[in-house]
Amino acid sequence: MNHKLKAIALRSSALATLAALAASGALAQGVQVTVVSGAVGAAVANFDALVKPWEDRTGNDAVLVPMPASTTDQFGQYRLWLAAQNSDIDLYQTDVIWAPQLAEHFVDMTEAATQAGLIEQNFPSIIESQTVEGKLVAIPIFTDAPALYYRTDLLEKHGAEVPTTWAELTETAQKIQDAERAEGNSEIWGFVWQGNAYEGLTCDALEWIKSNGGGQIVEPDGTISVNNEQAAAALEMARGWVGTISPEGVLAYQEEEARGLWQTGNAVFMRNWPYAYLLGNGDDSAVKGKFDVAPLPMGSGEGAQSAATLGGWNMAVSKYSQHQEAAMDLALYLGSAEAQKQRSLNEGNLPTLPALYEDPEVLEANPYFARWPEVFQQAVPRPSAPTQGDYNETSTLFFTAVHSVISGEEDAADALDDLEADLEDLLED
Ligand code: GLC
Repeated sequence: MNHKLKAIALRSSALATLAALAASGALAQGVQVTVVSGAVGAAVANFDALVKPWEDRTGNDAVLVPMPASTTDQFGQYRLWLAAQNSDIDLYQTDVIWAPQLAEHFVDMTEAATQAGLIEQNFPSIIESQTVEGKLVAIPIFTDAPALYYRTDLLEKHGAEVPTTWAELTETAQKIQDAERAEGNSEIWGFVWQGNAYEGLTCDALEWIKSNGGGQIVEPDGTISVNNEQAAAALEMARGWVGTISPEGVLAYQEEEARGLWQTGNAVFMRNWPYAYLLGNGDDSAVKGKFDVAPLPMGSGEGAQSAATLGGWNMAVSKYSQHQEAAMDLALYLGSAEAQKQRSLNEGNLPTLPALYEDPEVLEANPYFARWPEVFQQAVPRPSAPTQGDYNETSTLFFTAVHSVISGEEDAADALDDLEADLEDLLED
């Protein structure tokens, strides 16, 4: 049979199968579920393959509407849609910090998740982060805790150790940058991170401050703690990186810009989330096989520790969806061991299910996962629980103040004084 005939034969047999399925009722509820999700790393490119088993099983379709990469911009867009009770979007991919602010717009998933066994399979703290006044607002699909990415080849070449304090990192980055540039490697930088004024800077700066014994902005009991000397010292330290070991452009970097520079081989160190691991080892990456990851460095002084900000993403079903049942089913699938394993193998995301940290294939793809449950279980939460509906505004005030310090517009002590006053106005009414 020639190609054309073969295609026609295939098509008519597919049509016959569809007709048979439709007659049997199996496709009767085939609906399209529209999902919105951020466009970081390979998430958008991998979406079709990820949802294929669910589509095949249910006869439904899942369609992805990509959102901006910035979490802050996504939140703004989601809030508009939800306030307008938009029924075009069925499923929202939500950041770990949003549950209290958006809870009222989402369907309670407690019963469905319990029946699917997902409550007992998840790390309890992750379920807790998505529970607001007894309602499970979203199904966890992956968790996030950042790492210090470092170039094994360059550290070895220059006889340097993996830094465990920020002071060591600063010194090692400068030393390797200087030596490499002296050898003609003129594009190299010591350290890249997220310095843009957005949610990602809240994450980075919380790590500098917490690791330096300066607290966590607003403490779990609601105390506004950010105006202190250790916090100011941490911000001054970061300001000192800009233009020395980090390019001036870092002030506009989000995750993807940092990864871009890192993956062309032009950075010794990078602060980023786990998604950058498999991409960095991809065939098109200049650093393939030349890097490893470690916990972020500690600060100095009393209370110094290594601190990682807790991140992570979830699936929430819109109350305004006309396909709630199918959307819930897709959320459960995306939170299942089957889909979380795919995500770990293809995107390097950390599962929210403890069992997957013992899965040999997951560990082979991401060997450092064996060390990471400890890191994210001790990770620092952003103050979304104590600030509730005011979290977004709290974070915006915080990253705006931090940005003014690292860009040299304001001195850290003054910026933190003003920030404290603004947070008091916002939170203490
Ligand atoms: C990562 C984290 C998320 C965080 C964001 C900031 O996506 O998982 O929680 O808000 O980075 O850029």
